[in-house]
Amino acid sequence: CRVRHYKFNVVLKNTTRLCSTKPIVTINGKFPGPTLYAREDDTVIVKVVNHVHYNVSIHWHGIRQLRTGWADGPAYITQCPIQPKQSYKYNFTLTEQRGTLWYHAHILWLRATVHGAIVILPKRGVPYPFPAPHKEAVVVLAEWWKSDTEAVINEALKSGLAPNVSDAHVINGHPGPLSTCSSKSSSQGGYNLQVENGKTYMLRIINAALNEELFFKVAGHQLTVVEVDACYTKPFKTDTILIAPGQTTNVLITADQGAGKYLVAASPFMDSPIAVDNVTATATIHYSGTLSTSATTLTKPPPQNATPIASSFTDSLKSLNSIKYPAKVPLTIDHSLFFTVGLGLNACKTCSSGNQVVAAINNVTFVMPKTALLEAHFFNKSGVYTDDFPGNPPTNFNYTGNLTTANLATTSGTRLYRLAYNSTVQLVLQDTGFISVENHPIHLHGFNFYAIGKGLGNYNSKTDPNKFNLVDPVERNTIGVPSGGWVAIRFRADNPGVWFMHCHLEIHTTWGLKMAFIVDNGKGPNQSILPPPSDLPKC
Ligand code: C2O
Repeated sequence: CRVRHYKFNVVLKNTTRLCSTKPIVTINGKFPGPTLYAREDDTVIVKVVNHVHYNVSIHWHGIRQLRTGWADGPAYITQCPIQPKQSYKYNFTLTEQRGTLWYHAHILWLRATVHGAIVILPKRGVPYPFPAPHKEAVVVLAEWWKSDTEAVINEALKSGLAPNVSDAHVINGHPGPLSTCSSKSSSQGGYNLQVENGKTYMLRIINAALNEELFFKVAGHQLTVVEVDACYTKPFKTDTILIAPGQTTNVLITADQGAGKYLVAASPFMDSPIAVDNVTATATIHYSGTLSTSATTLTKPPPQNATPIASSFTDSLKSLNSIKYPAKVPLTIDHSLFFTVGLGLNACKTCSSGNQVVAAINNVTFVMPKTALLEAHFFNKSGVYTDDFPGNPPTNFNYTGNLTTANLATTSGTRLYRLAYNSTVQLVLQDTGFISVENHPIHLHGFNFYAIGKGLGNYNSKTDPNKFNLVDPVERNTIGVPSGGWVAIRFRADNPGVWFMHCHLEIHTTWGLKMAFIVDNGKGPNQSILPPPSDLPKC
């Protein structure tokens, strides 16, 4: 293994989409940002230099950061942000990880444009557990706003109401050939993948959108899913994949149609009556030898509320669980936790509507600290957080029933949940119907977990565990809690540090749907967090 050096200059760049131009925050002037390539077991050092007027920090989403929480990136959780004109070297090792992950800004709403792919190849000489593709391509799905995204969220917080939605979805930075503006400039024609008949390609698909889950489809072709969140899966064929913000999915696609041009489509999934940007992003697959003037075979994206398509996709995901890549589901539980996730409504004196939409876990709306939690933990600074996060909701109620008459107010605090080194955790995440049931893609930093069960309605602790899959459940770092339902996950707390967990819909994180775990040091060698690097930013 080797050390890979990267330099990320955070710079403003004037960018034109949907017929208008605005300055956006980028890595090295690119949208999406440059792809970071490495191999399993490599050490990666990324020097991030802040040339913009915002504070920034970068998170390496899904990278385990074993004992190196200082390089994880969420602002005020593991580090103070990098201030304008300052820099910070993120230094981490890719221990036993290979696959597609991604990086993104982890402060304000900057990740709207500050994001890119991380491709971790297997160790030299180690093949994929499926036939090697002829070529690979990175496919980053995201959103585009005509207005400035910081202005969008600031306005929403002032009013207390939901923010505007994006103006279009994009594939590798472009809304695509069907966009109303695409004919005006050839640079807006969208992403095109050139293929040769008979060859197989691997697409590394990433959902970098702030607020929307997406369906992804290719006209006339089946997709074979082989990996999610950098964990190999049992291969299965599907027409459509579902991908939530934060998730990554590798699929194989065989160019078996002989010739032609085929449309690629990314469209939103939202199964509750909440406004979304319903513009379908498009791209093309173009067989070599096909005239560029020939017609494109179209595809019809699933309807926005296609819950059966969404759940049949997620039900098909299983760990590969081979001899080489066994599933290691914890079979005993030290901490059995039950967290409700959902929205609430608090009185707000400064909001124009008098109320403010908030979000909470176990009725706690998380308050961001002013200094990094990991520093407070490491240096034993008091007064920054408490470690009394509730392991269960304060009251039992019909979580998914009609709650319009219930008290929607939440409590607030910077409360963390403490785990002993190497203890095992079962966590049931239950959606609540305050205001509206809604799908929440929950992301845990510092760990992969196994998704052992899911269901609709209220979780039943007596009967539902009988249906848990403890043999080959999918392993991942971001999981959708179904609208009006629950998921159960298990993980082993083998990574000392402070680890953020939050909804990856940015608006829900902003509203407070977040918390953090402290994992204490173990007593053995290599069971403690390493000391902070000397250039760790100061608050
Ligand atoms: Cu990809 Cu805390 O986020």
